[in-house]
Amino acid sequence: MNQWIIETEHLDYGFRKDEKILDDINLRVPQGSVYGFLGPNGAGKTTTLRLLLGLLRSENPNIRLLGRQMPGSRIDILRRTGSLIEQPSLYLHLTGLENLEVFRRAYECPASRVGEVLRITRLSDAAHKRTRAYSLGMKQRLGIAIALLHDPEVLIMDEPTNGLDPNGIIEIRELIRDLNRQEGKTVLVSSHLLTEVEKLATHVGIIHKGKLLFQGTLAELQNFQYRRALLEIEVDNVTRAEQILSGRFSVSVNGGSTIHVGHTKPDEAALINHMLVGGGVGVSRLSATGNDLEKLFLDIISA
Ligand SMILES: Nc1ncnc2c1ncn2[C@@H]1O[C@H](COP(=O)(O)OP(=O)(O)O)[C@@H](O)[C@H]1O
Ligand SMILES: [Mg+2]
Repeated sequence: MNQWIIETEHLDYGFRKDEKILDDINLRVPQGSVYGFLGPNGAGKTTTLRLLLGLLRSENPNIRLLGRQMPGSRIDILRRTGSLIEQPSLYLHLTGLENLEVFRRAYECPASRVGEVLRITRLSDAAHKRTRAYSLGMKQRLGIAIALLHDPEVLIMDEPTNGLDPNGIIEIRELIRDLNRQEGKTVLVSSHLLTEVEKLATHVGIIHKGKLLFQGTLAELQNFQYRRALLEIEVDNVTRAEQILSGRFSVSVNGGSTIHVGHTKPDEAALINHMLVGGGVGVSRLSATGNDLEKLFLDIISA
């Protein structure tokens, strides 16, 4: 079996003929991963996830889940895939247990699954409460419980922590971690918050304006951020500054009295400053300048 549980090949999408909401998306979700699908609002996350699940139709989809083609093998795929894309549609006048029982019968799952998914989502104690009285976080967990009834191998969730209070966010995060580590599920989860994804994901894909700007492990992402970091430094002697730094860093003279220094680790700004001053170069300004990806990160972080 293929190591990619979810993959797309040059996936494009537009709601109209002339628009490209998604542009050449090559998603690779490894088996056993928690894949954080990160991007600011409007980036194309929900559209991508809806395409994966066959909720939107693309003319030339190039989408495979569990080694099978979507939408051709939709039934087979959905039998092994759970999802929570919008707010869960719950019967508010019924208890959590009764809600699960409705979906269990519809999906023809064994009766024992209800207790199991209640346990997994830590809703056993609230099982006999009407869902009208559930907090938003509990409703969300019940939605995940419903998605788990048929014991899927893959779980796809669209911003499951949206609108939750800090406690609710932590509960969902812990649940996703348990689902991955204890229940062995591969999880694809979208978010517009870098900090959230960093706490949870083993792999990350960053989408911006319909393009996948980065894809890799969490370690690769952090490494990538640092590698691309650039310092802009204003000095009183450009030639000397270049001499001091160029053995160790990539230096470019940016006209006048400014140089750009590429560095790899976040704490190297202090070292660079120290080297310059120690070499007799006056430093009047030292600032981090972003490349596009870093500006995007700032957007994501501050969203
Ligand atoms: N049903 C739709 N019809 C037309 N445009 C849409 C529709 N849904 C989303 N869009 C547009 O597609 C882009 C991506 O949206 P979406 O996938 O919802 O982004 P995200 O989930 O990352 O916030 C946005 O510009 C949005 O306005
Ligand atoms: Mg969305």
